[in-house]
Amino acid sequence: VVRLLARRTSTAGLTRRGFASESAPDRKVAILGAAGGIGQPLSLLMKLNPLVSRLALYDIAGTPGVAADILGYAGEEQLGKALEGADVVIIPAGVPRKPGMTRDDLFNINAGIVKSLCTAIAKYCPHALVNVISNPVNSTVPIASEVFKKAGTYDEKRLFGVTTLDVVRAKTFYAGKAKVNVADVNVPVVGGHAGVTILPLFSQATPSANLSSEDIQALTKRTQDGGTEVVEAKAGKGSATLSMAYAGAIFADACLKGLNGVPDVVECSFVQSTVTDLPFFASKVRLGKNGVEEVLGLGALSDYEKEGLEALKPELKSSIEKGIKFANA
Ligand code: NAD
Ligand code: LMR
Repeated sequence: VVRLLARRTSTAGLTRRGFASESAPDRKVAILGAAGGIGQPLSLLMKLNPLVSRLALYDIAGTPGVAADILGYAGEEQLGKALEGADVVIIPAGVPRKPGMTRDDLFNINAGIVKSLCTAIAKYCPHALVNVISNPVNSTVPIASEVFKKAGTYDEKRLFGVTTLDVVRAKTFYAGKAKVNVADVNVPVVGGHAGVTILPLFSQATPSANLSSEDIQALTKRTQDGGTEVVEAKAGKGSATLSMAYAGAIFADACLKGLNGVPDVVECSFVQSTVTDLPFFASKVRLGKNGVEEVLGLGALSDYEKEGLEALKPELKSSIEKGIKFANA
């Protein structure tokens, strides 16, 4: 059903954002893990995106209800078809956390899933921009890079760990504390995507607000623990899904806009980086026709943020190394 619906190139009433003409490029987006808690609402949001002309939804199995309703491609034998010709591949496949678990506790299952999906991406759509949502992002992105290197298809400009949910949280919590409209707020979030490796830079938040250092510390901790807060609230029924679908849709939309030549598209993402001494790092990234156009620097940091930056490095380094080691084992 989706394959049929997705052939219609734009949704009535919506225009192709960022384009004045009808000649917007044909863009295929594939979602791997599309039947999951994130995958389903993310698929719906991508279906509404007028920049997407073809949407391929893939999952290994999916519940019968989802399969009947939306699923495009099910089972490994259909993965190639789902991926062929994709410009952007979004990966929310894998198991989510339960209370008491860290994201790294998901490594044993999700590392293998990401490795096998990236092996297929290297084969069927080696030039696609890959948006990795599956946790632990700090390790799954390095795994993806190693898989692509081995296949001879690696292009560091085309691989992204999706950290947009950290930005969404930082903006939301900041707006509440600063009593400003969240739609007007910008907060860069750098580092990685787990606990202390998530470093929101509230000193650079706009519009600026005169918050106390206690407020900044509380906002930082809440942003770092935002995922855990949801996991505990869901009490065994998984982790953030709707907010992640929203964040994933924002990031994929930014990738599509960049591909289509829209200028000044900037989002935070966990990418190959020389911003610090770590090989991967999340920071603001300018997106363009080839994916990453420019990895932007950190800007001026407060003393508190400088401390946070040094504190996050050992954990982030070891998560990156764990992913690289796994992929090469
Ligand atoms: P879920 O269990 O609801 O859905 C996962 C889906 O992946 C399932 O439908 C499953 O069948 C599918 N799947 C498993 N193996 C697959 C494979 N080899 N190929 C294709 N599909 C496969 O989980 P969820 O709540 O949607 O979370 C998915 C992942 O996203 C988890 O790892 C979670 O930790 C992560 N996550 C990341 C962020 C982030 O900010 N980056 C935010 C929230 C969740
Ligand atoms: C999140 O930040 O919500 C995700 O990484 C899921 C999780 O396990 O916290």
